[in-house]
Amino acid sequence: MSDNQLANKSQAWSALFSEPMSELVKRYTASVFFDKRLWKADIEGSLAHAEMLAAQGILGAEDHAAIQRGMTKIREEIEAGRFEWKLDLEDVHLNIEARLTELVGLAGKRLHTGRSRNDQVATDVRLWLRGEIDEIALLLNALQRALVDVAEKNAETILPGFTHLQVAQPVAFGHHLLAYVEMFARDAERMADVRRRVNRLPLGAAALAGTSYPLDRERVARTLGMEAVCQNSLDAVSDRDFAIEFSAAASLVMVHISRLSEELILWMSQSFGFIDLADRFCTGSSIMPQKKNPDVPELARGKSGRVVGHLMGLITLMKGQPLAYNKDNQEDKEPLFDTVDTLKDTLRIFAEMAAGITVKPEAMERAAMRGYATATDLADYLVKKGLPFRDAHEVVAHAVKTAIAQARDLSDLSLDELKAFDARIEADVFEVLSLRGSLNARNVLGGTAPDQVRAQVVRHRARLA
Ligand code: ARG
Repeated sequence: MSDNQLANKSQAWSALFSEPMSELVKRYTASVFFDKRLWKADIEGSLAHAEMLAAQGILGAEDHAAIQRGMTKIREEIEAGRFEWKLDLEDVHLNIEARLTELVGLAGKRLHTGRSRNDQVATDVRLWLRGEIDEIALLLNALQRALVDVAEKNAETILPGFTHLQVAQPVAFGHHLLAYVEMFARDAERMADVRRRVNRLPLGAAALAGTSYPLDRERVARTLGMEAVCQNSLDAVSDRDFAIEFSAAASLVMVHISRLSEELILWMSQSFGFIDLADRFCTGSSIMPQKKNPDVPELARGKSGRVVGHLMGLITLMKGQPLAYNKDNQEDKEPLFDTVDTLKDTLRIFAEMAAGITVKPEAMERAAMRGYATATDLADYLVKKGLPFRDAHEVVAHAVKTAIAQARDLSDLSLDELKAFDARIEADVFEVLSLRGSLNARNVLGGTAPDQVRAQVVRHRARLA
């Protein structure tokens, strides 16, 4: 087949086709304008395949050398932006193969021996995704370190902890941030786990049934740094569960980001006034001159919907596909690519934004004071003096009701006033009613006491180093 003929897709297949594809069908079925981003993985996979073919005596040494030479040239062309991607050649695989044949002739046509685009594309996506997962792991690490830094500085900073978004008990701001570090740490674990299943080799499955050539699949897996070979050819070419798993793990990262975003947005609002974000992460309003809007966290909250949407897209794409490969699978790329792009940008921007956060400890503490955040501590105090917890709860409810009526905090009541609720109350109660006393008292593993927060900071630093 001449190069001219290769450029016309309807003839690239075989002589079987008697009419050309319409422009609309070409555009509809082509993937090159998005899957060209797999080019590096495609070349890497092809080189590993060719090396194995040569080692097995299926491909001559000269052909092997020609393929290596051709691929080096193609790599240069793509990197320099000189490679001409052709819609007529449908996808990244056919584009690169056609160019290889243009460059090195028959050797290029021999590359596809014992291989199909079905095992080729599955291999490419896995190779590409493995590299992206490694970058995401680094970004998750950087975000965690940024949060740990802010947490360390705020081991003693008090803000109200909420349940039902009602003031509950005082917590350290550092403790609050470390909750997110835990979430992102689990996200990193999930990514590492997904990576093990991504990093398996489909090549050698060929179209669906394996191949009659004596391939050494283990050798290709070793060359590509893959941990295992897919053990069933039908499964190898058809399932995209690794992409779905990745997208589920990515969705969870984005959900955690979205929760953090929601808090940043609330905290920056005038009603809370707990923090300020650096100007470079915010925008103004074209009509209201006083406005500074937390656009970055708002967008991240919005983009989490988009990533979760891609998960739904991918999982639905798989459902109902009979074995083995179906063209449906070409639809895995755009959602996967967009998930990776969105996630990486979001993680990058959040690490920067976290590092530049301005904390307003007075506002946080004032808010904790306003909400009777130490009421539980007063109940615990009475329990320690012998009152059953349910009764103590009742006594404190009366005290809080009285304090609310007088618009005073519990700690503003005099000892005599407090004693009126229960005679067991003594002067040492004021330590208990203070926010700091409440914080220090929660010195249990995983609790909010500053000593615990500092210990966690040390643990995280060692883990993230
Ligand atoms: N572009 C295709 C994809 O992304 C490559 C595999 C096509 N295989 C085929 N037999 N048409 O899935």
